[in-house]
Amino acid sequence: MLQDAAAVAEEAAALIARYVKTKPDARVLVATGNTPMPTYEALAQLKPDMSDTWAVQLDEYLIPEDDPRRLCAWMARAYVTPLGVTQVLGFDLSLSDTQRMCRLHADKIGTLGGVDLAILGLGPNGHLGFNEPPSGSNAPTRAVTLSQASLASNAAYWSAAPHGARAAPRSAVTVGMDIILRADTILLLVTGRHKRDILARTLSETPNPGLPSSYLQGTNLVVITDQDVTGSTA
Ligand code: PGA
Repeated sequence: MLQDAAAVAEEAAALIARYVKTKPDARVLVATGNTPMPTYEALAQLKPDMSDTWAVQLDEYLIPEDDPRRLCAWMARAYVTPLGVTQVLGFDLSLSDTQRMCRLHADKIGTLGGVDLAILGLGPNGHLGFNEPPSGSNAPTRAVTLSQASLASNAAYWSAAPHGARAAPRSAVTVGMDIILRADTILLLVTGRHKRDILARTLSETPNPGLPSSYLQGTNLVVITDQDVTGSTA
């Protein structure tokens, strides 16, 4: 448990830098959302050699290809470009058949050998990527309709310039629980008081589809949190 979000970012960045040093061709599953942003900034400061790593897209909205809210654009701005990553595996947005888009993405991840390091945030309802409740541990890569909880939290991403006050998209695709849970290492980043209860449930509830994040208990999981989440006064 660390003092604040900045300390979380430093610790997480150091872990990622160590990971890619020992595995320079690591396949990294990359979350967007607010939580990992300070970590990616801290990682860029460490200037690790990420040139042989893969950035694997975790989730994406189903909106027109040129829409600035696309999560692949966010991943490029926050992670791929500043870290000098050259190998990106994203959902193929040119495909109108979303089932095929999902199957291809999952197949390509499989061909690479799966995910080494998954960097995840924690949804307000325990979603991972866009694996909304209910999602079992074998839920595949697929198209989903976002829950009210996710729409509400995602709306914050798009309420300000430069995107204009636009609603969060309702339809999305996500890497499945089956791939996420098989990652060699899962780094779960959780900051802020508003995540306190959902993290406690994630780590204590018997794993169940109503709380997808609870399945992380059976994985090689590293949780990095701040004291707002743990409630400690130490
Ligand atoms: P956040 O989102 O990092 O913006 O809180 C996490 C998530 O919804 O998965």
